[in-house]
Parts: sequence; structure tokens; C-alpha cells
Amino acid sequence: MTRAAEAVRGWASRPVVSLGEVDSTQTEARRLADAGAPEGTVVRAEHQTRGRGRLGRDWVDERGSALLISIVLRPAVEVSRLAQLSLVAGIAVAEALGETSGLPVAVTWPNDLLIRGLKVGGILAESSIGADGVAVVILGIGININQTRFAGDLEGRATSLAREGARPFDRECLLTAVLERLEAWYRRWVAEGFGPVREAWRRGSATLGRRVAVGDGIEGVAEDLGEDGALLVRTEAGTLVRRVAGEAVPAPSE
Ligand code: BTN
Repeated sequence: MTRAAEAVRGWASRPVVSLGEVDSTQTEARRLADAGAPEGTVVRAEHQTRGRGRLGRDWVDERGSALLISIVLRPAVEVSRLAQLSLVAGIAVAEALGETSGLPVAVTWPNDLLIRGLKVGGILAESSIGADGVAVVILGIGININQTRFAGDLEGRATSLAREGARPFDRECLLTAVLERLEAWYRRWVAEGFGPVREAWRRGSATLGRRVAVGDGIEGVAEDLGEDGALLVRTEAGTLVRRVAGEAVPAPSE
């Protein structure tokens, strides 16, 4: 099949670059993107030795138990909209997880995936501007599926689909659902803007209405998601603080 014909097929029906052990699927996907891989190219691994999380953290998986993927995206949108992509992906993955597992999946700002308050998955969007001036985003998704125990301080904060009762869980079925939902939400976001994503995010959010800490000593109630994807936090003093990056963790006083 030619590259042009390949591009017409949905992401879920294209061949996936499947790897055994790799340092990070993000690095592999970036390498393929730099070599011209088309949008929708998916790299998958059974285990990562140096998995990357948001804010410089590590992402640790149990070999063969997680879904670890990175997708090459070339969104034709203003650079100022790129941060919204994390929220687009959060909604898409939450939908796919909820539909395939039947479990109650919520998103936190900007894009952690929770089941009953514990983290089941995370999303990492790494952006750059390509030689042609178009943004290249490597969108990484990690979901704990059949892992039953977590090391150290992850125990009590992390969970898996199996731990929450969807056991044993079919990773192939989830991969297909994630790619289908992600492609649908991504195309809608590019074509229609952030409005529909914002509405879905507000409905599925575990952050809004909660007391959160957003860094720099700022705490308050997460009041809303702005029209651009910023989190709007109302402090005790009544000031509305906007956050476009970073994280919002439950406030110690909650
Ligand atoms: C986070 O919650 O901090 C984001 C975690 C993202 C992990 C995924 S696993 C697949 C891809 N490869 C990586 O090295 N990271 C992402």
C-alpha cells in the first residue's frame, strides 16, 4: 500500500510499530517522526527501561502488563493551541477506558486518568516545530492494565484495570478503542476548535469543584476550565488564578 493510501486508513487499522523492550516509546516515535513518519504512526512497547512522565518524572511499568504507546501527530493548529492537545487526549483515553472496562474513569487537570481516586494512566505530550514549520507532537499514553502490585509510594496512589475488577483485561481491545477515540477527538478538535472538548472535559473531570494546589503556594477551588484549556482556580481571597501548564493536586486542606 502506498503512503498516500495508508494515510486514508484510520489509525486503529494501520500497522503499529511493536517493540519488546525500549528505553522510551517517545524516543522511538520521535526518531520515526524526524525521518518523516506520517501522522498517526504508533509505536508500542512491552516494557520501557526509561519511561518518561510529565514534569520530568519517571514512568515505571511492569513488563507485559501495561499499554505503552506513543503517537506521531502533526496538528495544523496555532502553536498557542498545542497545550489543549493534552486535554483532548485525556478525554479520548478516558472514554476508551470507560467503554472497554465498564469502570468509572475520570480525568484530572490536565490529563491524569483516575479510577476511584487512583491513577490508572497518564499522558505526555512532547512538542517541537518541524523543519517545515509544522508542529510535531509525540503523544505518549501509559495505562496500567494487568499489574496487581505497585512499588514504594505508588502503592496507594496508582491502580490498574485488573485491580479495579476488569480482570484479566485484553490490551489489544483497549489499544483499538484508544486509537479510535483519539483519532475522532483529535480530528474534531482540529476542525471545530476546543469547545466540544471543553464540554466533555467538564463533564468527566475529577478536578472541578475540588480544593487544589497549583504550585507557587497557590490553593483554591478549581472553578472551571477556560475556553482555551486553562484551569481557573478561585483562591480564598476571591482572586481567579489561571493555570495553562503544570498540575493541580488535591490541596492538603481538602
Ligand atoms: C504522566 O502521567 O506523567 C505521563 C506518563 C506517560 C507515560 C507514557 S508510557 C508511553 C510513553 N513513553 C514514555 O516514556 N512515556 C509515555
